[in-house]
Amino acid sequence: MSTRPRTLSRRLVLRTAATSLGAAALTAATSGCSTTDRTDPTPIHDPTSRLSSQDADRKVLLAYFSRAGENYYYGGRTDLAVGNTQVLAGMISALIGCDLHRIDAADPYPADYMATVARNVREQNANARPALAHPVPTIDQYDTVLLASGIWNVRAPRIMTTFTESLDLTGRAIHPVTTHAMSGLGTTERDYARSCPGAVIGEGLAVRGEEVRQAGPDIESWLRRTGLIHT
Ligand SMILES: Cc1cc2nc3c(=O)[nH]c(=O)nc-3n(C[C@H](O)[C@H](O)[C@H](O)COP(=O)(O)O)c2cc1C
Repeated sequence: MSTRPRTLSRRLVLRTAATSLGAAALTAATSGCSTTDRTDPTPIHDPTSRLSSQDADRKVLLAYFSRAGENYYYGGRTDLAVGNTQVLAGMISALIGCDLHRIDAADPYPADYMATVARNVREQNANARPALAHPVPTIDQYDTVLLASGIWNVRAPRIMTTFTESLDLTGRAIHPVTTHAMSGLGTTERDYARSCPGAVIGEGLAVRGEEVRQAGPDIESWLRRTGLIHT
C-alpha cells in the first residue's frame, strides 16, 4: 500500500479537487444531477445481489472504459501509457477469469487532460450519450456485470450511460467499479440504478487511480465479500 498521508482536511480535499480536477467540472457535478436518464428505482446494495458464489455456471462480464494519456496524479499530472481502470480490469480478470469488454468512444477522448475535462462537462451538461466505437456484447450468458470506469466530475463518464442503455440488464447483478482521485464511487451507484432498470446494484469497488497497482488485497477482499471468488 502507498505510504502517502491520507489525513488531508475536508477543506483541503475540496480545494484540491476544485483546482486540480477542474473547478467548472466539480461545480457542475455537485450542483445537482439533473438527468433525463431512466428513473426506475433499482435497489441499491440489495443483499439478493449476492448470487450464489458456489454456482459453477456463474458468468461475469467486466465492461470497462479507460483513457490513456495525460491524467491527474496526486495533485499534479502524469502521462499514462495504460489507463488506470484498464490496469484494474486486468487485475480483476486475472483473479476471477471473467470476460472483458472494452468500451471506447467512436470519437476518442483527447490525450490532453483539460480538454477531456472540458468535453466531459459539455457532455454532462447536455446529458449526452457519446457514441460507442464497438458493438455492445451479447450478455445472455452473464448474470453479473462489472461496470468499470474512472470517475469524471464525480460521476460515471457519459459513455457508460450509452453502454448501459444499449443493453437489457434486467435481473442481473451489477457492481460499479471505479478508479478515481478522491471521489470514490462518486454517483455511479445512482447512475447505474437509473440506466439499468431491473438490475440489482451490488457493492461497488473504488480504487485510487494512483495506487491501482497496489490494490490487490482490496480487490480480493471485495471479490470475496461479493461472492465473486470464494476460495
Ligand atoms: C475528465 C476527468 C474528470 C475527472 N474528475 C474526477 C472527479 O470528479 N473525481 C475524482 O476523484 N477523479 C476525477 N478524475 C480522475 C480520474 O477519475 C482518475 O484519474 C481515474 O483513475 C482515471 O481512470 P482511467 O485512467 O481509467 O481513465 C477525472 C479525470 C478526468 C480525465
